[in-house]
Order: sequence, then structure tokens, then C-alpha cells
Amino acid sequence: MSVTVLNHSMIKHKLTNIRRKETTTKDFYQNVQEIAGLMAFEISRDFPLKDVEIETPICKTVQKELDAEIVIIPILRAGLGMVDGIRNMIPTAKVGFIGLYRDEKTLQPHEYYAKFPDTMKADNAVVLVVDPMLATGGSAVAAIDMLKKRGAKNIRFVCLVASPQGVEVLQKAHPDIDIYCATVDEKLNEVGYIVPGLGDCGDRLFGTK
Ligand code: PRP
Ligand code: URA
Repeated sequence: MSVTVLNHSMIKHKLTNIRRKETTTKDFYQNVQEIAGLMAFEISRDFPLKDVEIETPICKTVQKELDAEIVIIPILRAGLGMVDGIRNMIPTAKVGFIGLYRDEKTLQPHEYYAKFPDTMKADNAVVLVVDPMLATGGSAVAAIDMLKKRGAKNIRFVCLVASPQGVEVLQKAHPDIDIYCATVDEKLNEVGYIVPGLGDCGDRLFGTK
């Protein structure tokens, strides 16, 4: 298992945009999408390829084509903000959904929805679980527990902002999962929010509260 922090100037710049408290809902969503797209480029670097024979206007030739069933699984709600950015980069990807919310008092995740494409269980499937925030790690661990029970094998967890504690909890619970994030922030505060973070990602994406 590995933790990859995607150090890229444009990702850092766009992260600053979403951290600013005055950023509007529209700009927040647009920047989340764009960061997810930039991350997808890096995450897909080692996706399996196969040889295919094609014909160009000039001659026959053997070239490379994607040889993987890519499945994107956003954790609702906030994970939805990352889906379009990744689909722009990987348009053949299928999309499943996990509905989880974090109880505000106990911080424990509760499942309320699940729907997955069958391709998730294919031998060549690569499952990208996406959620902008990895805070206590409870939601990510619960989501990956659910996916493994339903037959997913090759799973990667993709988030924008992680806490050191969330990374540790996820690594301990699922040592086989690779984690990709745009930043690992300083800490969690006493009510489970990432510091400096960006606040409540779902609310900021969808304009609630
Ligand atoms: C947020 C976020 C993660 C979770 C992270 O969702 O999108 O799913 O919290 O926290 P954790 O690592 O401590 O579990 P939230 O429960 O607020 O639901 P929402 O996306 O519907 O707003
Ligand atoms: N969920 C969020 O949306 N933000 C945090 O900082 C922690 C959990």
C-alpha cells in the first residue's frame, strides 16, 4: 500500500481556491472537478494496456489500448463533486454510488444507499473510491468494507484533503489500498474537521447550510 500526495502547481493553486471561505458554490464545484481531473491523469498512469492492431490512413500498426474496467465510486454526497472531472479524463469509466453520512455527534458513518456496476467484480477492474475529505477515516473504511464484501478487489482511494489520522486509520484497516490525495493537512479539530481544511465539503459543493 502507498500514500501518494500529488504535488503539482495547478493542484496547489486550485486547492487554495477551495480553501478560501468566500469562494462561491459555483467556483467551489468547478475547482473540485478540475482538481479531480488533474489527479485522474496521475492516478491512471499505470492502468493496464493491451496491444491492438489498427489501421491508420497510412498502414497497419500495433498500438496500445486501455485493458481495464474502470469504476468510479463516489461516497455521497461530496464524492459526487469529483466524478465529472475524472470522467472527462476516463470517459469509458462506469459509476457506482455509496451513500454514507457522518453522524455529527459520534462521527460514525451510516450507510443509506448503494448501487454498483457489475464490472466492479471483473478481474481487470480498477475501482476508484472518491471522496474529497478523509477526516477520521471512518467513512472511507466503511465504504471499502462494503465494496470488498461485494467483490471489489483492486481498489484505490482518491481524496483531495486528508488528515494524518485519517491516513493512518485507513492504512491500518485496509493495508492493501493505495491512497491518492492532493494534500495531507495538519490535524483534525475537536469536532472532527480537518485543519486548515476547507470546511464542510458537501455543504460548500451543493450550497446547503
Ligand atoms: C464528509 C466527507 C466524507 C466524510 C469524511 O461527508 O465527504 O464522506 O465526511 O469524514 P470521516 O473521514 O471522518 O468519515 P459527510 O458525512 O459530511 O456527508 P455529506 O458528504 O453528505 O455532507
Ligand atoms: N467532512 C468535511 O466535509 N470536512 C471536514 O473537514 C471533515 C469531514
